[in-house]
Amino acid sequence: MQNLRIVVSIPGEEDYDVRAGTGLLSTLGDQLRRCPATAKAPKLIVITDQNVERLYLDAAMASLADAGYEASSVVVPAGEGAKALEVAGEVWNAMAALGLTRDCAAVALGGGVVGDLAGFTASTFMRGITVVQAPTTLLSMVDSSVGGKTAVNLDAGKNLVGTFCQPAYVCADVTTLSSLDEREWTCGLAEAAKSAIMDSDDFFFWMVEHADDLFAREQAAVVEAVKCCVVFKAGVVAEDKTESRGVRECLNYGHTLAHAIEMLAGYGTFSHGAAVAEGMRFAAFLTERTVGVEPGFADAQAALLDALGLPYLPWEAAPEDILAAMKHDKKTRGGDVRFVLVRDVAAWEVAAVPDADILSALKAYFEMKCQG
Ligand SMILES: NC(=O)c1ccc[n+]([C@@H]2O[C@H](COP(=O)([O-])OP(=O)(O)OC[C@H]3O[C@@H](n4cnc5c(N)ncnc54)[C@H](O)[C@@H]3O)[C@@H](O)[C@H]2O)c1
Repeated sequence: MQNLRIVVSIPGEEDYDVRAGTGLLSTLGDQLRRCPATAKAPKLIVITDQNVERLYLDAAMASLADAGYEASSVVVPAGEGAKALEVAGEVWNAMAALGLTRDCAAVALGGGVVGDLAGFTASTFMRGITVVQAPTTLLSMVDSSVGGKTAVNLDAGKNLVGTFCQPAYVCADVTTLSSLDEREWTCGLAEAAKSAIMDSDDFFFWMVEHADDLFAREQAAVVEAVKCCVVFKAGVVAEDKTESRGVRECLNYGHTLAHAIEMLAGYGTFSHGAAVAEGMRFAAFLTERTVGVEPGFADAQAALLDALGLPYLPWEAAPEDILAAMKHDKKTRGGDVRFVLVRDVAAWEVAAVPDADILSALKAYFEMKCQG
C-alpha cells in the first residue's frame, strides 16, 4: 500500500507534512532528516508513555540512531493523569538535563495525551523548540496530532493551560494501531465520524461505504480515513488557527453532552468517543426539535455510528443534572448552553439553546431510547 503525504498549510505558519501509512516508524529518522525543521537538530528527545514505550519505543529509537541522531527518551505514566503540571515539570527538567538547545526537537510518540504534553512542554521549553508528532492512537492520528493545540489539565478543569503550536512534522504509522484495544479503536472512530459529518458528502458517504472495513481495521481504509480527517482538520484550523473565529467550534460536535456524560458517569466509565457518539446522536435529535434537519440525516448518522461499533450508550441521568453539568462546559457563555447543531452533512451552526428546550429534549430522547 502506498504511504500518503498531506501538506498542512496554515496562514502565518510553516507548511508541514503529515505522512500516513504502514511501516513508517522504522524510517522515522530518515523522514526527520528530510524535514527542514529537524534535519540538523543536534539532539532529539522522544516523549512517550509506559504502554507505548513497551510496544514502539525501541523501533523509534533504533530508526533515529540509524539516521545518526543523538536521541534520548523520557517516559511518562499512561493515561490522562500525565497531562499535569508536575509531569510537565519532569519533562522540562529532562530537557534541561539533556542540554537541549533551541535547535533541538521533541518527538511525541503516543496518543493524544503524550501529544498534548509533548507539544506543551516543547512549545514552552526555552520559549519553544520544534515538536514532531508520531501519533499511535486512531484518535491522535485523525484529530489531535494536527492543529497545534497543546495542553495540560488543572484541578479546576481539563486543558486549562496550554499553547497553540503547530508541529513541524507528523508521522502516522497505522501499523501501530494493531495493538489498540477495541475501546480506544472505537473512540478514534467516533472522532473520525464527527469529521466526516462536518466535512462533506464525499467523506461522509465514503465512510458509510467503508464503515465495516474501518471497524475491522482494514489498513487501506484506515489510511484513507486518516488522510480525509487530516485534510478536513487542516482546513478548519487554517480558517481559525487560534479558535477565535468560531470555525473551529465545529470540532466540538457531540462534545456538549459528551462532557456532561463523562462528568456524571465518572471519567473513564465510558470512552470519550462513545460519549461523543451519544452526544452526536442527541445533537441531531435536538436539532430536529429546534432548527430542523434534512429528512434522513439523523437516521444516516445513526446507521453510520452503529456500523462503526458505537451503539446508543446504556446510560441516562436526570435531565436537570445533565443540564447543570453542561453549564460547566467551556462553550457556555452568559448561562446559555451552546450546541453545535447539524442540519445535514457539512451544514452546521452553533446555537445557544434555552434550558427548557434542552430539558424537554433530554426527556424525550431518553423516552425514545427506552422505546427503541
Ligand atoms: N490537541 C488536540 O487538538 C486534541 C484533540 C482531541 C483530543 N485531545 C486530547 O487527546 C487525549 C486523548 O488521546 P487518546 O485517546 O489518544 O488517549 P491516550 O493518549 O491516553 O491513549 C489511550 C491509551 O492507549 C495507549 N496507547 C497509545 N498508543 C497505543 C498503541 N498503539 N497500542 C496500544 N496502546 C496504545 C495509551 O498508553 C493509553 O493508555 C485527551 O487528553 C484529549 O484532551 C487533544
